Amino acid sequence: MTMSSIIVLDGVKKIYKMGDTELEALSNSNVEIEDGEFVAVMGPSGSGKSTLMNMIGALDTPTTGDVNVGGEKISNFSQDELAMLRSKKIGFIFQQFNLIPSMNAAENVALPMLFTGAKKKKRNKRAEMLLEKVGLGERLNHMPSELSGGQRQRVSIARALANNPDIILADEPTGNLDSETGENVMNLLTELNREGKTIVMVTHDENDAEYADRVIKIEDGKTGVEQ
Ligand SMILES: Nc1ncnc2c1ncn2[C@@H]1O[C@H](COP(=O)(O)OP(=O)(O)OP(=O)(O)O)[C@@H](O)[C@H]1O
Ligand SMILES: [Mg+2]
Repeated sequence: MTMSSIIVLDGVKKIYKMGDTELEALSNSNVEIEDGEFVAVMGPSGSGKSTLMNMIGALDTPTTGDVNVGGEKISNFSQDELAMLRSKKIGFIFQQFNLIPSMNAAENVALPMLFTGAKKKKRNKRAEMLLEKVGLGERLNHMPSELSGGQRQRVSIARALANNPDIILADEPTGNLDSETGENVMNLLTELNREGKTIVMVTHDENDAEYADRVIKIEDGKTGVEQ
């Protein structure tokens, strides 16, 4: 592990137990991501991409092996400790956007700030600033159902930035978007990377992978690296 590694997986194995059968979704995975890198993760459906992202994103812990995120060894963290680390250090972007349908754009973006103790006025102001940053300054009060797919994904990017995380994890962020809207989202991610965010993105799209510094290939739970 070098000084500037922000994410390190060391011999990580993830086994899902279902009744008395075991499924090895990740086998002996060694991954190292430098601070400020933009990495794409590619591989067939069922190969373990989301499982890998769950490890990196502190959503789950490995069966064996060590995971280090932002200098903290999280392999033995409790659920509360994992949640704390996530809210401080990681922003998530999903294929299905995962916005709260009953909240408008600004409320969705302000929500993650609730858990940091920031005052309401400050939360609202930052939500507005972030929505302006992603080009939605005119859509603050729109409900998710009143936004296009690309706009919804931009709201979710603004939400991912709410607590100014060092790491952004995106699982197929353009999967539900047409190619032009998808390009817009990729340009936004590139801009965030230039501003210093470390980005790890799962994609099936070769064009999207072009935006990344490198690609981590995964097949049948086994990670390999390709330029
Ligand atoms: N919670 C779980 N319990 C049991 N098995 C699981 C669980 N989550 C995933 N799996 C299995 O682990 C393997 C890897 O799944 P994963 O979701 O990581 O694949 P993926 O590469 O993200 O696929 P996709 O491209 O379809 O999203 C699959 O065989 C899947 O069925
Ligand atoms: Mg997946």
